[in-house]
Amino acid sequence: MAQFDQTLKIAPFLDRHLVFPLLEFLQDKGIYPNDQILKAKIELLAKTNMVDYMMDIHRSLYDEVPKEMMDRRAEVVNRLKALEDLAAPLIAFLQNPQMTAELKPERQANLQMLHDRYQIGPEHIDALYQYAKFQFECGNYSGAADFLYQYRTLTINSEKAYSAMWGKFAAEILMQNWSGAEYELGKLKEAMDSKNFSSPLVQVQNRVWLMHWSLFVYFNLESGRHSLIDLFMNDRYLHVIQTHAHHLLRYLAAAFVVCKRKHRGNIKDFIKVIQQEHHTYRDPITEFLECLYVNYDFEGAQRKLQECEDLILNDFFLGRPETDNGYIVYKFRDEFLENARLAMFETYCKIHQRIDIGMLSDKLHMNYDDAERWIANLINFSRLDAKIDSKNGTVVMGVQHTDVYEQAIERTKPLATRTYVLARNIAENLPVRA
Ligand SMILES: *[C@@H]1O[C@H](CO)[C@@H](O)[C@H](O)[C@H]1NC(C)=O
Ligand SMILES: *[C@@H]1O[C@H](CO)[C@@H](O)[C@H](O)[C@H]1NC(C)=O
Ligand SMILES: *[C@@H]1O[C@H](CO)[C@@H](O)[C@H](O)[C@H]1NC(C)=O
Ligand SMILES: *[C@@H]1O[C@H](CO)[C@@H](O)[C@H](O)[C@H]1NC(C)=O
Ligand SMILES: *[C@@H]1O[C@H](CO)[C@@H](O)[C@H](O)[C@H]1NC(C)=O
Repeated sequence: MAQFDQTLKIAPFLDRHLVFPLLEFLQDKGIYPNDQILKAKIELLAKTNMVDYMMDIHRSLYDEVPKEMMDRRAEVVNRLKALEDLAAPLIAFLQNPQMTAELKPERQANLQMLHDRYQIGPEHIDALYQYAKFQFECGNYSGAADFLYQYRTLTINSEKAYSAMWGKFAAEILMQNWSGAEYELGKLKEAMDSKNFSSPLVQVQNRVWLMHWSLFVYFNLESGRHSLIDLFMNDRYLHVIQTHAHHLLRYLAAAFVVCKRKHRGNIKDFIKVIQQEHHTYRDPITEFLECLYVNYDFEGAQRKLQECEDLILNDFFLGRPETDNGYIVYKFRDEFLENARLAMFETYCKIHQRIDIGMLSDKLHMNYDDAERWIANLINFSRLDAKIDSKNGTVVMGVQHTDVYEQAIERTKPLATRTYVLARNIAENLPVRA
């Protein structure tokens, strides 16, 4: 199961705090020894201010807490207090609705007003930033989110305002406020598009980070997969995937499988990318797409589909369990498998003129009547030009002029011996175009 685990590839592009949910997931799955995960957690925690959490884990591993950790705790508490004192005048102002009512849209005017009326200067505004960051490191994400937001509206330091956006984005993710996180994601992307980065490399790094963080949002929102395709297929971002983060192809591929319908135009381009990157990245999901759309190898696709299920259930973003009426459900897995089967059926129908229902029912492990009903629904659902011939027990396809059909003929000509059919026992030749 560890074979397809990408945590180590993903973690370098996340904020430390965002790595914890991934580690929790791995711990639940039991993919790695528990001790190893706990040690990884301590290592991460050592660089945050979440000292109590770190001490708990240490105690559970070694039955004691080292003195350094106690000292560290005291240090964190003192520092928090000091930062709070520094930011106190501004925080008092911000928590008073009558006072904040005086704020105007113009930043400079606000700074002047704060200075003249409340003796609040740039040092207080900067202290708010430091305090918010420190709260974040302590794991107080809601406090951090509020202060970072307020900091952003007040500051004239564009670099720090930019990093406050990242902080707020992370905080929303960690609070699992997906709509809030989506909003921050959009803002951040906008800011990145207009920002002057110190070098092209820094810009690329920012894009890689954005894509990784976006996975939290996109796989938790209904409309997320469409947004993921839109973002990742954007030339600038796709280029970054192909040069710096091949492992993201998994999420793009998964998104394409579940919402192929809306992205028919894009999927061809994506299949080309998968082929180009075949030697740098592949997993059961990308291989499934290749089997289906490049090789027309339906048996291979079926085998890959089984592997896909394992992969999905062991992937943090794709295999997130949810509860539904007290039952644990894996919504993405179900949606994925359903759409993958549908895609197989559609492609199969497009390259065969006549399909034997008895054969299909065997393959699908259904009885004949269920299979016939299932096919009837699919034909209707996917608006295929096809009819069921009940007397003959076959599905008869209308003449197709689709691209898939043309590609299939082109490809299978030189590959006459290749097994591309779902079952060898159906003695259908490829239809010859009328
Ligand atoms: C988080 O920060 C806010 C703002 O400072 C504070 O009111 C709240 O008590 C903090 N929560 C915790 C758990 O420390
Ligand atoms: C989530 O974020 C949105 C936008 O920032 C905010 O309006 C909303 O109150 C937040 N919801 C929760 C539960 O924190
Ligand atoms: C980026 O730099 C250009 C020229 O160097 C300048 O005109 C533009 O205003 C800058 N944009 C931002 C957002 O700072
Ligand atoms: C075909 O699907 C439509 C909705 O997509 C539905 O209204 C209609 O009843 C279906 N027809 C059959 C024969 O199942
Ligand atoms: C049944 O199938 C055969 C060939 O498989 C075909 O020749 C015949 O016309 C079909 N019968 C009907 C009623 O479509």
